[in-house]
Amino acid sequence: MPVTGTTRVFATLGHPVAHVRTPQKMNALFESREYDGVMVAVDAAPGADLAAVFAGFRAMANFGGTVVTVPHKTSVVALCDRVSRRAEMAGAANVVRRERDGSLTGDLLDGVGFVAGLTGAEETVAGRRVFLAGAGGAASAIAFALAEAGAAHLTVANRSREKAGELAGRLSEAFPVLSVAVGGEPDGHDIVVNGTSLGLREGDPLPVDAGRLSSGMLVAEVVMMPEETALLREAAKVGCRVHSGRHMLEGQLEAIFAFLTGVA
Ligand SMILES: NC(=O)c1ccc[n+]([C@@H]2O[C@H](COP(=O)([O-])OP(=O)(O)OC[C@H]3O[C@@H](n4cnc5c(N)ncnc54)[C@H](OP(=O)(O)O)[C@@H]3O)[C@@H](O)[C@H]2O)c1
Repeated sequence: MPVTGTTRVFATLGHPVAHVRTPQKMNALFESREYDGVMVAVDAAPGADLAAVFAGFRAMANFGGTVVTVPHKTSVVALCDRVSRRAEMAGAANVVRRERDGSLTGDLLDGVGFVAGLTGAEETVAGRRVFLAGAGGAASAIAFALAEAGAAHLTVANRSREKAGELAGRLSEAFPVLSVAVGGEPDGHDIVVNGTSLGLREGDPLPVDAGRLSSGMLVAEVVMMPEETALLREAAKVGCRVHSGRHMLEGQLEAIFAFLTGVA
């Protein structure tokens, strides 16, 4: 469908944005659904620039909404007029819809997408012990979705330990029966998840100690590019099942489309 004066405009907002793949995927979905929309990547630095871009979104009558990626997922919550309960609980949003009156509504769909990706690959979450590296936007969303899907135990490990502690505290409050730990190593877990941005750049250190991985574990990524990260390579070497970041995005594309466009 050609881009014309009636085309609704959507964004994928991040900093930087050269690596994002959501615009390509969403534009393909718009095309296949014959939806008159276009998505472009928007690069805005945190702080004043991000706030200015949000003010612009409110003022654009033909703006439909945005997908939000690194490093903005937590800061956009305060810039929305309202957010869903799961976004509020996790303190992060990855989609923001512009309503007809210019107000902005946030939701958090990437945890939903992550669990849908695992289920689609015939993996089970219920009753499993999960080690999660990271405590940022994606990791928080995944943590709440795993808890919702019935994980038995969740260990949260993060470079900034206090952020891991805060996330663990919010999880325990929302899911009193879930066993939660902070810090530690992957051994003794069924599922190991990289929820950090490590692996995105060549030469990044591994997000977990690969020496603590063993066969029988499932190792899952949030990083989508490269599709085979150094962590997945190391995990495959020791006989783990591996699950790339692509599944998480594919798991939530439908949900993003429905949320942003209002088309079921
Ligand atoms: N597959 C998908 O559909 C999908 C969806 C969403 C996100 N993602 C990917 O998920 C990743 C994280 O996104 P996000 O939104 O959660 O970002 P974020 O909120 O900025 O969080 C980044 C996380 O990575 C950690 N981290 C960053 N650099 C690090 C380093 N050098 N050493 C150790 N830890 C480091 C941070 O630790 P600190 O707290 O210590 O800073 C934090 O836990 C990105 O790669 C993004 O592309 C993928």
